[in-house]
Amino acid sequence: MNIVAIYPGTFDPITNGHIDLIERGARMFDRLVVAVAANPGKSPLFTLEERVDMVRQVLSHLSDQVEVKGFDSLLVRFARSVDAQVIVRGLRAVSDFEYEFQLAGMNRRLESSIETIFLTPAEQYAFISSSLVREVAKLQGDISPFVHPLVQAALSRKFG
Ligand code: COA
Repeated sequence: MNIVAIYPGTFDPITNGHIDLIERGARMFDRLVVAVAANPGKSPLFTLEERVDMVRQVLSHLSDQVEVKGFDSLLVRFARSVDAQVIVRGLRAVSDFEYEFQLAGMNRRLESSIETIFLTPAEQYAFISSSLVREVAKLQGDISPFVHPLVQAALSRKFG
């Protein structure tokens, strides 16, 4: 059976923690679609187009198995449009659990044929989040251990 999975997120910006999960997912599924959500509710620093471009560039080494697409619809509708049977989400700490549990439950009610599975990142990435990376970059801290050099350069441009 050909299993297609999607890994959705805002990716504002993509971090090494996300890349770690995507590399794990790419080994598990026949095709993995990284779904970059417009998510205007989070008022992202980077536009959807900038986020999609950045994700594509930092994942170029996986282009045989991984596809990158932007979306601004309901997640399960987008999942159906790419024939995905699985949604992959990351669980970094217990604090992620409650929100992820709600998200998975709602998505199941909306589309019962799509399963959500959770992967844990390597421990060195367990504390990274996009908002912390943005904050450290804004205050001129060193973000090189947390993001790809292309993302580091994009953040430097945003924050001058
Ligand atoms: N490494 C590093 N950071 C990680 C991570 C990992 N492995 N996994 C999660 N994170 C961080 C993200 O950087 C983000 O940090 P931030 O809040 O500081 O920016 C945070 O955890 C969670 O963000 P993310 O994984 O990007 O998800 P999200 O909560 O921003 O978006 C969607 C979740 C896109 C899946 C959800 O909003 C959605 O489905 N939207 C579509 C509309 C829809 O269908 N809504 C109904 C849903 S039931």
